[in-house]
Amino acid sequence: MKLTIERIGHLGDGVAQGPDGSVFVPGVLPGEEVEVDGSVVRIVTPSVDRKKPPCVHARTCGGCLMQHASDAFVEGWKTGIVRGALAGQGLEAAFRPTVTSPPQSRRRATLAARKTKGGALVGFHARGSDVIIPVPNCQLLHPDLVATFPALEALVRIGGSRSTEVDLTVTRSLAGPDVAVQGGKEIDAQMRLELARLAESHGIARLTWGGEVIALRTAPMQRFGAALVSPPPGAFLQATAEGEAALLAGVREAVGGAKRIVDLFAGCGTFSLPLSEQAEVLAVEGEAAMTAALEKGWRNAQGLKRVTVETRDLFRRPMEPDELKGVDAVVIDPPRAGAEAQVACLAASKVPVIAAVSCNPVTFARDARVLVAAGWKIDWVQVVDQFRWSSHVELVARLSRQ
Ligand SMILES: C[S@@+](CC[C@H](N)C(=O)[O-])C[C@H]1O[C@@H](n2cnc3c(N)ncnc32)[C@H](O)[C@@H]1O
Repeated sequence: MKLTIERIGHLGDGVAQGPDGSVFVPGVLPGEEVEVDGSVVRIVTPSVDRKKPPCVHARTCGGCLMQHASDAFVEGWKTGIVRGALAGQGLEAAFRPTVTSPPQSRRRATLAARKTKGGALVGFHARGSDVIIPVPNCQLLHPDLVATFPALEALVRIGGSRSTEVDLTVTRSLAGPDVAVQGGKEIDAQMRLELARLAESHGIARLTWGGEVIALRTAPMQRFGAALVSPPPGAFLQATAEGEAALLAGVREAVGGAKRIVDLFAGCGTFSLPLSEQAEVLAVEGEAAMTAALEKGWRNAQGLKRVTVETRDLFRRPMEPDELKGVDAVVIDPPRAGAEAQVACLAASKVPVIAAVSCNPVTFARDARVLVAAGWKIDWVQVVDQFRWSSHVELVARLSRQ
């Protein structure tokens, strides 16, 4: 079947009109003429934005979707996704230039693994499949994560199985890799010993198995400004150091000279701790282990203004307008679901400025509409592409009360 690709959908597939309606085609670009025969796609007329994928695994690995597109195309596509989400709510905004993280910069990833007859298979799933593709030359992951593959394979040989898959979450820390395993065999005394030995011989800073810490050689520290924090196993961390720096720069600029800041969905202090160089911060987060890590990091740091932490479910118990009295700026960085209840309270508050960080343009736009309807203005939006070559979109925005 011959098709002309009209556009790229928000999940990265090309969309074309076939004889029976819309057809979704992977690995293509708008304007391209293609021939599709089952799962085989032949590019007849390539786009000027087409380029050779930088990774040798790109054809088989499902980890990246957009390696065949120029950076300029991906930037425009992701900005278009945010613009489209805003337009869907009747909103528009000024966009700042996108900041894209470089190749080989992902510092946290979840890999799939399985024990095999001869050893272990560690990698990413092939697209839309449970086949695991080993990725020794991965261009997405930081080289320090790629260097953990032999250790991960050894872990799977000890505690994986041939019938079920294991999830391996690996995070780069200042002390070495922080590895959390889910779905492995139930642990017994012998296995515990072998895993601890393996963590030692491969320099794993912390090894967590099914939520239980098996080995803690050195606390897996992350630096947030002047503070060092040891996040609990599996805690949220921005995907790349460069993405985090760009988001923080946007947040700093948005809050300006604020002296009293509330950081909502604060995690382990990515924004709270650097902002406490200039302001007193109240950091509110739902996970007690994360607020504890944040507070410990603040106590051990020098020269920061006061940071107070509160563990609180902001979906059920958002911060009320009364509690936000006297606050100069709010930072809000909710999970993908957005922050409907909290935003309703912010709309009714007297807070003058919001720095909004979001990993979901749809819920960002939904929440922004509530604020705009209450008299707020979106001053600017910036896409921060820390999920390079994927369809994920991250952004930071400034909103101010008119
Ligand atoms: C996108 S992360 C941002 C974390 C932090 N701002 C950062 O940049 O590292 C969202 C955070 O919201 C927290 N969270 C999720 N649901 C929550 C809720 N209902 N109430 C409070 N915090 C919640 C998560 O634990 C996570 O730390």
